[in-house]
Amino acid sequence: MPRRWVFLSVTFATALVLAAAIAYLMPVNQVARHAPAGQALVGGPFELTSHTGERVSEKTFHGKHMLLYFGYTYCPDVCPTELQVMSAALDKLGGTADQVQPIFVTIDPERDTAKTMATYVANFHPKLIGLTGSAEDIAKIAKAYRVYYARAKDDGSSSEYLMDHSSIYYLMGPDGAFKKHFTYTTDAEKLANGIKAALSG
Ligand code: NI
Repeated sequence: MPRRWVFLSVTFATALVLAAAIAYLMPVNQVARHAPAGQALVGGPFELTSHTGERVSEKTFHGKHMLLYFGYTYCPDVCPTELQVMSAALDKLGGTADQVQPIFVTIDPERDTAKTMATYVANFHPKLIGLTGSAEDIAKIAKAYRVYYARAKDDGSSSEYLMDHSSIYYLMGPDGAFKKHFTYTTDAEKLANGIKAALSG
């Protein structure tokens, strides 16, 4: 084999090995980056509009623990109850609540404009931020947080409709990573204690 060919085959073989190694390592790295062992795949980047009309992202809240709840302002029962529990828990936390940013994300962006959200969040806690966005924005964050939502079946006779949705509080760390979730049966006392434990742990 001429020396040049030997050189070329060696170069080609090296390139193949490198390509195979990159192809093998890439998915592993990506998986590792998105889901460190034992950490739930909840959360991620988002871009939404706050109730004051500002465009915000997950980075806006970095440095604070986000306490998120997903629902809608037309909700007749569960959402108002849960937001009251959230507010009461924040009050129980006292000064510790400074480390927490409570956020209410609508899953009904069609009706929940920034203005509607502003009026609504004012009923609960002064620190509560309401977030809305386009249908795509909301679909994206709901997917990231694994939130189920769908328009409830009705007879179509009324312009008022209900939304089915999962009812869970999510506590995210100051880096935006998932820390803990609380189900809707959690009362204010348990929620406050759970947050306090997560903040000190
Ligand atoms: Ni609701």
